[in-house]
Amino acid sequence: MRRALVAGNWKMHGSREQARRLITETVDGLPADCAAEVVVLPPFVLLPVAAGVLEGSRVGLGAQNVCDADEGAYTGEVSAAMLRETGCRYALVGHSERRALYGEDDALVARRAAAALRGGLSPIVCLGETLEQRERDLTAEVVLSQLDAVVAELGMVGLARCVLAYEPVWAIGTGRSASPEQAQDVHGLLREHVRRLDAGVAETLRMLYGGSVKPDNAGALFAMPDIDGGLIGGASLKSADFLAICRAAR
Ligand code: 13P
Repeated sequence: MRRALVAGNWKMHGSREQARRLITETVDGLPADCAAEVVVLPPFVLLPVAAGVLEGSRVGLGAQNVCDADEGAYTGEVSAAMLRETGCRYALVGHSERRALYGEDDALVARRAAAALRGGLSPIVCLGETLEQRERDLTAEVVLSQLDAVVAELGMVGLARCVLAYEPVWAIGTGRSASPEQAQDVHGLLREHVRRLDAGVAETLRMLYGGSVKPDNAGALFAMPDIDGGLIGGASLKSADFLAICRAAR
């Protein structure tokens, strides 16, 4: 049985004051019997503040990216060991905004995932097609090749320690979520692909859906057999909405 995971990706939002308030509200409002594991992913500089507020709580911490190297002359990057020392357990890799705006390709994303594992973090590997790719019927090809690049770098032992996040680019920040059936189709395809490589890994690998998840659609998305939680953008910045989404996870 896979435990649901709900991760709040704040993107480049928040101040120290907002981070303290948002996390306090989330920690205080999380029901004791919440079925999901809950994680917040603030910007790098807010991680120490977040870690302080989260200490001793059931809410975990992660980063929005991680360097592909362990140490050295990599100006502007942050290593897995640094993130781990700051209290992170997870790191996103390959978010579509990183791929589209900062030119991160499949190979770099895979190396970042490998570095996360070396440093003791679980990578949350983001995959997803653009609207143009979907309209050209390339969704399967795109997401499977993104996944294959990670498998080639990490092997199945490494993949087993990852979380996948399917985030169709056309659904991110647009208010236009994939329907539960559309999302399930891709999650099912991904899991089937993993199953052909290793049936055991396919059973335990968690796959999150991201893209305009809100309190009113989270339940239907999370009810799908291969959707094991969500990667939440905009709605993670409002504690009431984020908590409602956490409660919707099975
Ligand atoms: P939204 O929930 O704002 O669509 O963002 C999704 C996302 O990119 C999370 O990583």
